[in-house]
Amino acid sequence: MSSLSRTIASPVTLARRVTPQPVRNVLRAAYDRLSYAVAGLPPRRLRGWISPTWFDFHDTGRDQLEFFVEMAGLRPSHRVLDIACGVGRLAIPLSRYLNGRGSYDGFDIKEELVDWCRSKISTRRPNFQFQLARVATRWSPNEQISVDRYCFPYQDERFDFAYAGSIFTHILPGGACNYLEQTSRVLRPGGRLVATWLVYNKRTLELTQTTGSVEHSWKFDHGEYRVKDDDQPEASIAYEEGAIRRMYAEAGLQILEPFRPDASYNAARIPSNRSEGIHLHHCLCVIAMRPNDTRRASHSSQPT
Ligand SMILES: C[S@@+](CC[C@H](N)C(=O)[O-])C[C@H]1O[C@@H](n2cnc3c(N)ncnc32)[C@H](O)[C@@H]1O
Repeated sequence: MSSLSRTIASPVTLARRVTPQPVRNVLRAAYDRLSYAVAGLPPRRLRGWISPTWFDFHDTGRDQLEFFVEMAGLRPSHRVLDIACGVGRLAIPLSRYLNGRGSYDGFDIKEELVDWCRSKISTRRPNFQFQLARVATRWSPNEQISVDRYCFPYQDERFDFAYAGSIFTHILPGGACNYLEQTSRVLRPGGRLVATWLVYNKRTLELTQTTGSVEHSWKFDHGEYRVKDDDQPEASIAYEEGAIRRMYAEAGLQILEPFRPDASYNAARIPSNRSEGIHLHHCLCVIAMRPNDTRRASHSSQPT
């Protein structure tokens, strides 16, 4: 920490310590109302849930949309699925892009995020729908259905386009296979999936070990994937490239080469003095398509 930030941080920390909790709550609520009124931002606490606070919410949302249009064929009339939609980072710019024939469906395990999106987005755009995913994860341990068995609550071939932003970084292989299969099921033939993954391969592992290297950041090696912490594996998972390719093939999804480093979670955004975002240097976007001639395999299961 620089001496300047030490000087600035200490009075702020001090003020926080001496301000009683009820007063802090009132101030926080006022700040949240103001940031929504002025900049259309969700509450800071909800933004913090989906990404580190330095990560610019609106800019990265716009980047994602731009990338989908330019590189993955998204069109204004598309029916879009947002898997693990968070607090509307994509839905907000998409609500200005999709036309009346298009639609958006997003789901997430965290109720507060879904509630915020419903109250601020669906009320203005009824063709934007958000659902709570009742699936058991580290963050929703009381749910009954495991990630490996969760059936997306949509009919077969309902969507033209799907996005899975920073969710395969929190799902172990059984769940990742299931989420890919479910996505394949709900995409129409020719529909596209864009997903972000933390990826490593033989070459990445051979690079000199630094603080940002795969071996340093994801210490626990499970063969085709590595985790940061074996006690809470879902906190951060990196996959070996070959495993990703195998899972896509098994789900009947064709990867449109190459794996792309230049999308949404852009490494260029990471301030050089921040260690918390360094893992994003290994974050790649995979664009895939459900081929036009696929017959649904036996794993296909529709919601009842
Ligand atoms: C890093 S955030 C990304 C959110 C959003 N895609 C974005 O880019 O802003 C990961 C999100 O996944 C959600 N999540 C975690 N496990 C999930 C699961 N198994 N199914 C659906 N959502 C999940 C979390 O609640 C969180 O909102």
